[in-house]
Amino acid sequence: MTDALNVPLIEVDNISTVFRGHGRTGPPITAVDGVSLALPADSATFLTIVGESGSGKTTLSRNILGLIQPTHGAVRYRGQDIRKLPARERHAFRREVQPVFQDPYAAYNPFYRIDRVLRAPIRKFKLATSRDQAQAKIEEALTAVDLRPGDVLGRYPHQLSGGERQRLMLARIYLIRPRLIVADEPLSMIDASLRTLFLNILLDFRDQHGISCIHITHNLATAYYLGGGLMVMYKGRVVEQGDMDAIIAAPSHDYTRMLIDAVPNPDPTKRRGLRDVAQS
Ligand SMILES: Nc1ncnc2c1ncn2[C@@H]1O[C@H](COP(=O)(O)OP(=O)(O)OP(=O)(O)O)[C@@H](O)[C@H]1O
Ligand SMILES: [Mg+2]
Repeated sequence: MTDALNVPLIEVDNISTVFRGHGRTGPPITAVDGVSLALPADSATFLTIVGESGSGKTTLSRNILGLIQPTHGAVRYRGQDIRKLPARERHAFRREVQPVFQDPYAAYNPFYRIDRVLRAPIRKFKLATSRDQAQAKIEEALTAVDLRPGDVLGRYPHQLSGGERQRLMLARIYLIRPRLIVADEPLSMIDASLRTLFLNILLDFRDQHGISCIHITHNLATAYYLGGGLMVMYKGRVVEQGDMDAIIAAPSHDYTRMLIDAVPNPDPTKRRGLRDVAQS
């Protein structure tokens, strides 16, 4: 697939997802209601999606990953509806758009050692031509996410801490070199000291490897750390969309204002706090 001019990497075109109601008589639930977004193909960007619980964020991300089909509208990857991708493009999509799950434990086969977990994508996407090259790539990937190959390779996923499992997932992504990561609340399972490391790895991926990211979170402070675009969802709809700094300086929706007010007083030694931006 080529980077044709002006064709977005990913384009969500006015999609809705309507779930059947609970039981036979329950009313249908419109989880996503006419949402559109686009990420450019010619530069790596971040888009953060925030919204209260039940506002449709996960449902939107599942549509983008092709795990569910929209009831209305379409998701296009490099201009092609992801429901209609020919086999070769489908394989490319599977490589180029990678999920990061909230609980990485669910993503691993508990009976496979870490070596095998990381060799699987190498085989599937033919990322190495020899066993030695595969081993070298695995060690490079683990080192890139601050894991020591000698410490983790012979172990099983359950023998790692939650934060180590998160980083293992990022090592897998480092190997695969996708164009887009879709990360749904990736930080909610790890403690504060590891959050910055995790976010810095995402920034490295963007700046050094051209990997874009759609990042879903409840926490506006982590979104602000990453910068880029911001989309605020409320009851399945988009209520704000655009440049993060601009939205935080002049929020137009009550829910956005509430998110800004919920951020604790910032550490003055770190990046400027949200309140400073809102007031400047
Ligand atoms: N498979 C499903 N069947 C029926 N209803 C669903 C299904 N998945 C989600 N919903 C409903 O759709 C709405 C949106 O859910 P979704 O999981 O997308 O929200 P969310 O923004 O990710 O919330 P959270 O922040 O709690 O993760 C909710 O009302 C939810 O109950
Ligand atoms: Mg969710």
